[in-house]
Amino acid sequence: MRSMTLKFDTLPRHLAVIMDGNGRWAKAQGMPRSEGHKAGTASAKRLVTECRKLGIRHVTLYTFSRENWARPKKEISFLFDLLVRFMNREMASLIEQGIRLNILGDLSELPLVTRQAVKRAVSQSKDGTEMTLNLALNYSGRDEILRACRQLAAEGARPEDITEDAIAERLYTAGQPDPDLIIRTSGELRLSNFLLWQAAYAEFYFTPTHWPDFDEAHLHDALAAFAGRGRRFGCTDEQLSSAQTSGHNA
Ligand code: IPE
Ligand code: IPE
Ligand code: MG
Repeated sequence: MRSMTLKFDTLPRHLAVIMDGNGRWAKAQGMPRSEGHKAGTASAKRLVTECRKLGIRHVTLYTFSRENWARPKKEISFLFDLLVRFMNREMASLIEQGIRLNILGDLSELPLVTRQAVKRAVSQSKDGTEMTLNLALNYSGRDEILRACRQLAAEGARPEDITEDAIAERLYTAGQPDPDLIIRTSGELRLSNFLLWQAAYAEFYFTPTHWPDFDEAHLHDALAAFAGRGRRFGCTDEQLSSAQTSGHNA
């Protein structure tokens, strides 16, 4: 396996992926969009397994955005069926690998069957310690921030209580590091309302490859690109190198 021989100087602690291009992948082969989504599921499984092997501790997959409700009803119900089937088929293996499933998004708006299956999977895998797999499901970055603010208001927060930490603690990702690397497949150069708050200092990797074709080798390319980025977080290069030589963690 290629992963066994690969070493990356710097791995993202949190990798987030906008899995885009299932429909175009299917269309290019004269198949219905649903076939693209099916193939996309296999790709998601491949990615999670490889991230787990590499030791990436947090992985987030953009599975369904709030804006995706605008799609044809048939496609939406196919996507939710696919998710339930995926969980039924894969949860045992995820648990075996020590993977904890976590949902980012508003479950209350999902069909009952989906909601129940998701809740069951989250609770079955809650003791996983090796990796957190976040599925962004019925997710909207703006709505997530709005909810955090409303929650603070409901708690009676005073203006000075409304801090960055206070907001971050009320996001779906509370307690997890921000994504270091965000990958988007299929050539679109946008965030589509994904992790707006958390992406503040993320590195971006865009590839024209459609999601169903994104395999271990593509992931390794993205990780290699990430390892080669100079992250400065607002500092100068000189500050960073002197922090490194004096043993500080920049
Ligand atoms: C990503 O692929 C899957 C979801 C958004 C659910 P798309 O379905 O967006 O595929 P394209 O972008 O139409 O090719
Ligand atoms: C983003 O992809 C959402 C997911 C991958 C689940 P879309 O295909 O919905 O994004 P837009 O509409 O092209 O921005
Ligand atoms: Mg798309």
